[in-house]
Amino acid sequence: MDKIKVMSVFGTRPEAIKMCPLVKKMREYEQIESVVCLTGQHREMLQQVIDIFQVKEDYNLHIMKPSQTLTSITTDVLTLMGPVLEKEKPDIVLVHGDTTTSFAVALAAYYQQIPVGHVEAGLRTYDKYAPFPEEMNRTLTSRIADLHFAPTEANKECLARENIEKNVFVTGNTVIDALQTTILRDYKYKSPELIRILNDMRERILLVTAHRRENWGQPLRNICEALCEIAERYEDVAVIYPVHLNPKVRDTVFEILGNRERIHLIDPIDVEDMHNLMAKSYLVVTDSGGIQEEAPSCGVPVVVLRNETERQEAIEAGTVRLAGTDKKKIFREISALLENQEQYDRMAEAINPYGDGHASERIIRAILQYFGVR
Ligand code: UD1
Ligand code: UDP
Repeated sequence: MDKIKVMSVFGTRPEAIKMCPLVKKMREYEQIESVVCLTGQHREMLQQVIDIFQVKEDYNLHIMKPSQTLTSITTDVLTLMGPVLEKEKPDIVLVHGDTTTSFAVALAAYYQQIPVGHVEAGLRTYDKYAPFPEEMNRTLTSRIADLHFAPTEANKECLARENIEKNVFVTGNTVIDALQTTILRDYKYKSPELIRILNDMRERILLVTAHRRENWGQPLRNICEALCEIAERYEDVAVIYPVHLNPKVRDTVFEILGNRERIHLIDPIDVEDMHNLMAKSYLVVTDSGGIQEEAPSCGVPVVVLRNETERQEAIEAGTVRLAGTDKKKIFREISALLENQEQYDRMAEAINPYGDGHASERIIRAILQYFGVR
């Protein structure tokens, strides 16, 4: 066989953070011709990542619309992916995780009978509405995929429970590959807003992100109100919250948390700023999936603004706690970690169940093996 043509397709910030290390690694393999297609489900937040990792796309479908719907993302990706796949005829398409981009691209490839490799396979909560629509996106992607790259043994077991046992490879998570290049000892921040905030900061940093669909509306209001009370109660704590660009999120967050003492609302920061800020934070409070993997690796405890998580490894290791979206419960969980040093220290032990930073190489070797190429 000539070179294997691998088309990596992604469209949102977290997919890009976890796919770019793999795309870069593929450049080192002469047996592989790597093609990159962005769906453009995100725009600025995607560009920030691509620029940092210096990945150049071959295609960008530019599908993002303000306040886009799940239907528009799915149908636009399906419609626009077809001609790209027909032109490029890749030997395999790689998708990542659980976004609507991932599922729709997998489906588009399946319609042309092109094998699909699923990076970050086998994460499950078994609740189809939490996270929504991610749980269904990844479950359906697993049904379509031919190769499954599971970050952990537990993820492999989840796939086995669904009778998916062929071509499942435990690889670690490529987020650890990414972290190894982004976190630096004498890191210099780039965001002028962040530099200004960090200048002379004496308080303990509470790094917050919240944007999930199932938290829009009242749950997000509860989260914001709990954060207000934390900032009022603890004068030695400052909240830094890079707010997602979605207007549905921004409207609520700025209404409740805008112009408050020791609460800093900033625009999304690039991944290098984010990872280094995370490493220097006292506590992370988030509904993000990826941050639940990153913070434990940095030895920073995480309060998760969800009722369930697909990242059970971090729960078992004790660095992540579920607070859900009840205002009182969120306040209690954060407050306990601000006040109780013993509890904090127990959670702050750095653990990394997600691999050794060589996930990309394992994924590439599995692809070569699948195609019978040395
Ligand atoms: C998407 C994913 C979610 C992932 C998240 C990462 C789906 C259904 N959801 O959710 O799994 O956790 O990305 O952040 O696939 N926007 C901009 N600029 C950007 C990005 C977004 O303005 O660069 C705004 C747009 O108005 C857009 C809206 O945010 O319509 C929502 O974006 P969307 O991708 O639909 O939802 P996310 O909540 O980002
Ligand atoms: N992130 C970032 N800048 C920000 C906020 C988050 O680079 O301002 C990174 C974060 O470190 C993690 C990823 O984005 O790697 C998480 O993305 P998000 O929370 O949007 O999606 P999820 O992981 O929930 O799918």
